[in-house]
Amino acid sequence: MPGRLKSPVRLRQDRLVTMRDLDAGELDRLLVRGRELFEGQPAEQFQGAVATVFYENSTRTRNSFQEAGRRLGLDTLQVGREGSSIQKGETLEDTLHTLRALGAVIAAVRTPEPGALAELPDVGIPLVNAGDGWRQHPTQALADLLAVRLAGREIQGARLLIVGDILHSRVARSAADGFAMLGAEIYLAGPPTLLPPGLAPALGARLVTLEDGLREADLVMVLRLQQERMERGYLPSLGEYRREWGLTAERLGRLRPDALVLHPGPQNRGVELDAEVIYDPRSLIHRQIACGVAMRAALMEAMLDAR
Ligand code: CP
Repeated sequence: MPGRLKSPVRLRQDRLVTMRDLDAGELDRLLVRGRELFEGQPAEQFQGAVATVFYENSTRTRNSFQEAGRRLGLDTLQVGREGSSIQKGETLEDTLHTLRALGAVIAAVRTPEPGALAELPDVGIPLVNAGDGWRQHPTQALADLLAVRLAGREIQGARLLIVGDILHSRVARSAADGFAMLGAEIYLAGPPTLLPPGLAPALGARLVTLEDGLREADLVMVLRLQQERMERGYLPSLGEYRREWGLTAERLGRLRPDALVLHPGPQNRGVELDAEVIYDPRSLIHRQIACGVAMRAALMEAMLDAR
């Protein structure tokens, strides 16, 4: 159709399971497009619905996919664990076929099963991993990268410190992949129970002490303590975690003056970070959420265009 608005991004595949499904060029072009959409450029318009299939709780990601879909002219179909036919034994594959029959043209899926999306056969619509257990949360990394770029920072050469519950964090894994792909150096700090030996090299990162990391980092990503994934006593107490590993107001004062703070949310105030940190001028926390809408719109636009 002459003059029809098209996504400038071409992706090689129509399923985003991990950040490693993207190459650096695709990632950069998605971020350029995400910035355009963030700044108010019109998005391509589609017919049909975005399906959000969320078998774990969510405030940011589910609403963000729905809002991004709205920008692309899409309706919304919603499925949660409670109240859906998963309780009657329906598989994820059959649920996705059902949603496609109901008008879904793309689906975002959150599941506690690591790798669930990678193992699914083709269901006839593009799929986006909206978080699979501890494994990956690629659209969170897209949002975080755009938030840093919009703050006027280069990713290339930036030192990103990720602090806290690395073991259970899909955000840490996706961020390590995405920031490293664009040339950042990745540093990890956390209690040994939540950052066991071998994990840092597996993520292409270097282990540092919290004090060294805070002193040197350009970007500090604080992770949520994922108590819902902790089957045994990883920590003596939440109070001790805050004392040893929390980004307290006092520790905030030890950052470089131009360092930026990220947190994927939801935050456990007074545990992994203090409330003052959330509202500090160096915090990108709310900007990350806004960037999530633009990046999910950029991603879905490109995936739907490829169909
Ligand atoms: N960051 C994130 O995934 O938040 P929600 O669990 O609220 O979607």
